[in-house]
Formats: sequence, C-alpha cells, structure tokens
Amino acid sequence: MGKASRRKRTDVPVESRDAKIVRQIMRRLNVPDSRCSQVEFWDRTALLLGEADVEEWLRRQEDDTPDSQYDFTYSTLERALCCAVGWRSWPLEQECTWMLPRLREALSARGPDEQFVVEIGAGPGAASAVLSAALGVPFLAVDPHPLTAGLSEQIADRTGGKVTSVVAGAEDLARVLDGRVPAAVIGMGVFRYFQRHVHRDGVFSYSNSIANYLQAGRPDPQSVDFFQAIRPAELLLSEAACPDYVGEVATAAAASGYYFVEGGLSQMRTAIPTGPVENTLMHLACARLSPVSVPLLQATYSPLPAPRPGLHLEGPMAEALMYSLGPVKTLRLTELRWRDGTLRRAAFQYGELFGHYDSTDLDYRRLTFHSAAEWPAAEARAVEYEEETVRSGEAQGGALVLPVSAW
Ligand SMILES: C[S@@+](CC[C@H](N)C(=O)[O-])C[C@H]1O[C@@H](n2cnc3c(N)ncnc32)[C@H](O)[C@@H]1O
Repeated sequence: MGKASRRKRTDVPVESRDAKIVRQIMRRLNVPDSRCSQVEFWDRTALLLGEADVEEWLRRQEDDTPDSQYDFTYSTLERALCCAVGWRSWPLEQECTWMLPRLREALSARGPDEQFVVEIGAGPGAASAVLSAALGVPFLAVDPHPLTAGLSEQIADRTGGKVTSVVAGAEDLARVLDGRVPAAVIGMGVFRYFQRHVHRDGVFSYSNSIANYLQAGRPDPQSVDFFQAIRPAELLLSEAACPDYVGEVATAAAASGYYFVEGGLSQMRTAIPTGPVENTLMHLACARLSPVSVPLLQATYSPLPAPRPGLHLEGPMAEALMYSLGPVKTLRLTELRWRDGTLRRAAFQYGELFGHYDSTDLDYRRLTFHSAAEWPAAEARAVEYEEETVRSGEAQGGALVLPVSAW
C-alpha cells in the first residue's frame, strides 16, 4: 500500500513512535485487518480457517449466548487470532497505542517487584502479548473462560512478549495476585461485566446524569472490592458505553481513592467489519498523577472545537461544548413533546456569536453557532419549524422555564 492511501485509511497524518511500535508488533500476528467489509472479512477467514469454521461462527453469532461464542472463538489459537483478535484488530491497535506510553510511565514510577502488568478479561490475551513485547515486561492475562488457558503464551511467542495466562475472574484478582502489586492493570471490553451501566432513559443532560451518579455514590460492591484489590496500581480501560458510564466508574473508583487522571479520558473512533465503533479510553490512579480538572463529559470529548460561525456539532460532543461555555445569555427556551420523545431547544447568545442547542431524551444532541448577520434568518427558521410542528398537531409544546444547566 502506498503512503497516501495508508494515511487515508488511518486518519492519522503523522504516526507517533509508539503507534509505529504497536503496528510493527501487531503485524507479527498476521491477523485480518478489521478495516474491511463483512464479506471481505469472511473471505479472509475462510482462507485462514476454512468455510466450515466461517459457517459455524456465523451460526453461533446468530443463535447463541456470548459464552457459546467464546467456546468456539477460544477453542484453537487460529480461531482466537482470527475471530477475536482479527475481528477487532484496528480497535486493539489503537487501544494499545494509547496505553503504551501510560504503562511505560507507570512502570518507571514503580519498584523492581512491581515490574509487571495484569490484563483482566484478557480473552486470548493479544493486548498483553503486544504490550509485553513493546515494554519488555511480563504480563498476567486473566480471564475466567477455561479455554483461554495457554492462549496468551502462544500469542506472546509470536509477538516476542512474555505472558502467563490465568483462568480467573477480575473479582478473584486479590487471590491471583497473592500480595504482589502490579504497576498497572488493563482491561478492554470487560469492566462493564462488574461495574454495570444502569441505563437511564430520558436523559437531556449527560453532564447532570454523571453528577447524579457521583452525588448518589452507590457503586457496585464488586467494583469497590476490585479497586481495593489492585491498589495502588494504575488502571487503564477501554469500554464501549453510554457517555454517562464514566460517572458510574468514577463513583466506584472514588470509594477506594481512585480518580480519572488529567488527560486520562478520551473517545476513540475505529471500525470492525460490521461498521464504526466508539470506545471510551480511561486512565485511573490513586496517587502520583493529578486528577482531571474539568467535568468528566468535557474531558471525554476534549479537545473541543472553538465556537465560530458555522460550527455544527452533533452527539455528546455538542453537549460537552455547550456546557463548557459557562453562562450564556438565554434568548429563548422551547420544549416540543412528541408521543415518543421530547426535544428541548435553547436559542442563546455567546459573546459575538448566536446559537441553537437541541437536546432530546432519546440521546440526540445538536449545537450550531451563527454570526450576528446570519442569526435573524436562522432563528426565524427555527421558530417557523417549532410553530408548524405544533400547529400540525405533530407535537405539543411551548416555552420552557428550565435553563440548559438544569436539563
Ligand atoms: C468482550 S470480551 C473481551 C476480550 C478481550 N479483552 C478483547 O478485547 O478481545 C470479554 C471477556 O471478558 C471475560 N469475562 C467475563 N466475565 C468476566 C469477569 N467477571 N472478570 C474478568 N473477565 C470476564 C470473558 O470471558 C471475555 O473473554
């Protein structure tokens, strides 16, 4: 592949030294690249494993529980490499690239007995195998599925890392560690198994939802035990979760003195053959590093773009920017109620700029900025839409009293 097309596929114009290290180690695994269509992925899998395995895997994906899928995926090294590692090779590469410098620093701050890292819910242990090779320290790859025993050692043989697999759940970590303290613990797609996300419907403000979790302070006892078992190791996680999940993790962490570190929250966009995936990367510590200094939603979606005429954002980043503006001059507040959902809209002034912020209780957010010259027409269009929607009987609505900060 030429340089230009490589740049286009990764969206990373200048590759960091760590990104290069991880990519070169990942190449030793010879797994499919997850940046392809499903058809391309099945074709590649058929070449590596045979048609019968593709059919069996598809059958399990449709019919069975995750455990039965793991029974198949973890049953041989080749299946694990293709179906578990290859299926999400791009996310894995980006996760390892994000974790590598953080782990290097955590290791450099710890003593000689703590020069190892633990991966929880490691599955086949590919992340351990890659990062162990990159850092030159041993990893323990812990997973409760019995078929993962021995897999990470075989994968580490290919990467040049040193990994020991242990069949155990993350809740058994105190027993597994038996008094030893790792420099860090990592987990990818596993923390939600014991710090559950309790989904709240009707959330107009993720920021306030996060604040409510922190105020209520009711973490799952299992995750509190977990933080106590790993203290004072740093914790690095990658989870696909709702924007307010960080509030639940922060609540569990706080009970043991853990906090999100400055710069330790980030949103990662990658892809697997079924399409784009978004993960939240999290770095928690209980000492050494400073706690994050901005609200958690803003930290997750940083760096936020600077407001300017024509800026249009959708999704949680729109809310993060709106709440980061501080007090704005509210010009008008409206609520439109459909049968299946409600929209709240604020028309506001921010310095020389004007804007509309929309939030629904169905997870939609939109923020648009206009110049003073564009504003009268933009506001007229917004009002016309609202009036027409109510006049036609499509939705009910009118003026709203609650300011955006209280949504
Ligand atoms: C979504 S997979 C992720 C595997 C691997 N981290 C990866 O990124 O490919 C979740 C893994 O968590 C493991 N798991 C389930 N319950 C667990 C628990 N209580 N503690 C640790 N791991 C668990 C499963 O066996 C499975 O291998």
